[in-house]
Amino acid sequence: MTAPLSVGVVGCGNVALNFHVPAYLALPGDYTLVGLADPSPDRLAAGARIAGLDDSHLHTDAAELIARADVDVIDVCTPQHLHRDLVVAAARAGKHIMCEKPLAATPSDAAAMVAAAAAAGVRLAVMHNYLFFPEVVALRGLIDDGELGTVRTVTVDMLGVVDSPGAGGSVWRHDPAQSGGGVLVDMLHGVYLAEHLLGEQATAVSAFVDSVIDGDRVEGIALCRLEAGRRVALVNIAWGVGQGGIAVEGTGGRAVVRYRGDGTPPWAPFESLTVTTPSGGTRTVDLAGGQELAQLIADAVRDTVADLAAAVRTGRAPAADGAVGLHTLEETVAAYASAALRATVDLPLTGALHDRGVGALAYLDVAPQSLVAQRALFGPANSAAANSAV
Ligand SMILES: NC(=O)c1ccc[n+]([C@@H]2O[C@H](COP(=O)([O-])OP(=O)(O)OC[C@H]3O[C@@H](n4cnc5c(N)ncnc54)[C@H](O)[C@@H]3O)[C@@H](O)[C@H]2O)c1
Repeated sequence: MTAPLSVGVVGCGNVALNFHVPAYLALPGDYTLVGLADPSPDRLAAGARIAGLDDSHLHTDAAELIARADVDVIDVCTPQHLHRDLVVAAARAGKHIMCEKPLAATPSDAAAMVAAAAAAGVRLAVMHNYLFFPEVVALRGLIDDGELGTVRTVTVDMLGVVDSPGAGGSVWRHDPAQSGGGVLVDMLHGVYLAEHLLGEQATAVSAFVDSVIDGDRVEGIALCRLEAGRRVALVNIAWGVGQGGIAVEGTGGRAVVRYRGDGTPPWAPFESLTVTTPSGGTRTVDLAGGQELAQLIADAVRDTVADLAAAVRTGRAPAADGAVGLHTLEETVAAYASAALRATVDLPLTGALHDRGVGALAYLDVAPQSLVAQRALFGPANSAAANSAV
């Protein structure tokens, strides 16, 4: 029996206070929550109430929390453009790290974080929490058992995503410099899920993207194709009321996951997982109906932080490590570049796309007939209308 890891949480916004803090409190054998950091005194006070910590454990400057000798793990829950400096500082201080997704706003930032963790010999885990949804675990199990034969196609539909611009009136999710993109990068859960089920990393990406709000600087719809040799995934993500679901097709059959009303997870709970063989026989996998959003995410975040504790104890890699986080982010940037250039983009990214992420599109030869050009996506704020539209 090893002692619990001491964890400090940086950023006391929506995801931290609703999910990360409760997850650590629910795992006393794995973790002791010893500190919180946020520049906003109101957010810190809200966090202190939930965590049951007194003022001596609260920090308006994250550097103080990271420097504390009694902290083993730093959990970074700020918007993604702030992840790099916090994660690099935590790694240099010898802390293991849990970092919210997307790993960063640019691939070069993500690569710096991966390198810092490797140099320090610490674990860097990314909160790819949808990997722990029960239907995803069941689906991966079917594939591993060979029930679907060789996987050829995966389709992930999340066309009914609810838009949450940011905490306290902030709209950082609609500012490409802070977010690194729109609905696709925010819901890149669909990208890593597709690849997890495909069983191979994509080496080429093509996509259609458009905004769904006039004047918005980020996309609200992204229809993407991820190619991995002869396997391919279609990942369709949008803010709106479109359909959700997952389908995996292999040489030995297909599996289909449906959510309530054909809606998008996690807003629509899991409803059924069916397997159909080439002869047409269909069976329904015995899996309990899904949880509503709050409990589903709470459970998945708890399982992801528990996985990091096990990874630290055993020396194995976490379910999603920094390299996976970097690759997943690169797929989203490649999708944006593909839509802008009207071409298939190879991975790993190089040059400006690697260095600046979606910000590189301001410097590349964007096709004038692309919607990225016509809808002025991913550029700097250029009008009051762009800001007020969200
Ligand atoms: N895995 C998931 O299911 C999931 C769900 C929601 C959000 N997220 C991710 O979590 C991150 C945060 O999202 P959110 O919805 O909680 O955002 P939010 O806007 O609700 O909260 C962000 C918080 O970070 C704080 N902050 C800003 N700068 C800081 C700094 N330098 N040091 C410490 N704190 C700082 C803000 O004051 C705010 O309290 C994002 O990367 C987002 O993509 C993941």
